Amino acid sequence: MRGTWWREGVFYQIYPRSFQDSNGDGIGDLAGITARLDHLNDGTPRSLGIDAIWLSPFYRSPMADFGYDVSDYRDVDPTFGNLAEFDRLLAEAHRRNIRVIVDIVPGHTSDQHPWFKAARSSRTDPKRDYFVWANPRRGGPPNNWRAVFRRVGPAWTFDDQSGQYYLHHFLPEQPDLNWRNPAVRKEIDDIMRFWLDRGVDGFRVDVASGLIRDERLRDNPRFQLRGWPRRRNWDLDEVHEIHRGWRKVLDSYDGDRMAVGEIGVRNLRRHVRYYGEDDELQLSFNFHFLEQPWVAERFRAVVEEWERLLPAHAWPDYTLSNHDRSRATSRYGAERAGVAAMMLLTLRGTPFIYYGEEIGMTDVPIPSNRIVDIDGRDPERTPMQWDASPKGGFTTGDPWLPIGDTARTSVAAQRDDPASLFSLYRRLSWLRKSSPALRRGSYRTVPAARGIFAYAREADGHRALVALNFTASAQVVALGSGSGRVLLSTRHDRDGAEVDLARVELSPDEGVVLAPA
Ligand code: NOJ
Ligand code: CA
Repeated sequence: MRGTWWREGVFYQIYPRSFQDSNGDGIGDLAGITARLDHLNDGTPRSLGIDAIWLSPFYRSPMADFGYDVSDYRDVDPTFGNLAEFDRLLAEAHRRNIRVIVDIVPGHTSDQHPWFKAARSSRTDPKRDYFVWANPRRGGPPNNWRAVFRRVGPAWTFDDQSGQYYLHHFLPEQPDLNWRNPAVRKEIDDIMRFWLDRGVDGFRVDVASGLIRDERLRDNPRFQLRGWPRRRNWDLDEVHEIHRGWRKVLDSYDGDRMAVGEIGVRNLRRHVRYYGEDDELQLSFNFHFLEQPWVAERFRAVVEEWERLLPAHAWPDYTLSNHDRSRATSRYGAERAGVAAMMLLTLRGTPFIYYGEEIGMTDVPIPSNRIVDIDGRDPERTPMQWDASPKGGFTTGDPWLPIGDTARTSVAAQRDDPASLFSLYRRLSWLRKSSPALRRGSYRTVPAARGIFAYAREADGHRALVALNFTASAQVVALGSGSGRVLLSTRHDRDGAEVDLARVELSPDEGVVLAPA
């Protein structure tokens, strides 16, 4: 069936600078990723059982925003390799049945992109209208829009050469493309085709709910109450038209190509509109887990609201970390990482794992002289910790960011330890593969005492029950009647045990997946 792989599969996000360096320059690269694919899936439960990877940008870029400032959308930055190495990575991933989606950045280019260089050269240049230009207002920026990066301030920079302001919702080095210009749409469609022709399975679409802004450039409301009045530079109705266009491009290819949008919309009712009538992007990131404190009822509320609001054709997804947010293990604490993993991999919806999450990597403190990101995101982007050596097996050179405590946390140290987080992630991932209920079953909340999040999944007569203890004390929960078997516990020593479903005992910070008899 169409859509099975991205509905039932497990995704893994790779931040290319930080996964594996292959040439000793201290920066991860495509050849490094290829060399590490067996970690993700070698076809056996010794590996993580990943079905798809999302690669953050590896295109030519001056790296003002580490690749989210693209100067050539059709080439690989020399830091990361070249197109031949990309093709090899893709072929090697596909050989292991791992799909590959690439990050596409349609909202803005780099200021070093030939389009922007031409555009700023004169007001009459044919590329001028690829970007958004406006005259000063009372000697200052054209309106009150602010950039997303707090340190940037106004979303406008004055261009001395041509005497107008240009719009940028991120760095001044990332001028916003003008999505009201049909020529821009065609350019991005062509870039998508370039990668689809090369064989990628789809895209993660950067800033997908931005893109199009108020045509008259009116000010944003000064105050909002629960998202009202609406902002004029984000989540405009017209953006859906763009997404429908992309879906057509994807559907014109065989091989079941897909896209997942970065939808920065807080209100879930507005968020679910990005699923359209099954004519927009197939998935839309749900970032709400990233904002919840470690409280069972809060996570349950996110899931229930999402389940309630999603249209029938739509499929949920969940994520605990990414390259823009503090890592899950840092937010929740190591003792909770197992329950977090179990929740991510047993809910109804596609799980997105951020590299290093499977071993419980934490944010790494960055000394002030080594800070490189404008927006404070270095701690969650540090190199993957493969082994216990000081450089963690990531590089032989000087790593671009400090490396965390590899003596305490590494793949090698956890590989043969059945009680490790890595072992739990692997067991969860492979259990999910073997269980229709977990892969594609329905979701139903099971009422439980405070501090416990419990649910049932069911498909074609297969049933699984999940109970997650969010508290640091032992609990007893009633999940039904009759007996059940522990398919998997975050404590590895209970697997296979018989339990009475009316009285399931949970240790502090324990989660279990049960099969009712
Ligand atoms: C969202 C990306 O995830 C982030 O890393 C980037 O800085 C902005 N979009 C701008 O492209
Ligand atoms: Ca390198």
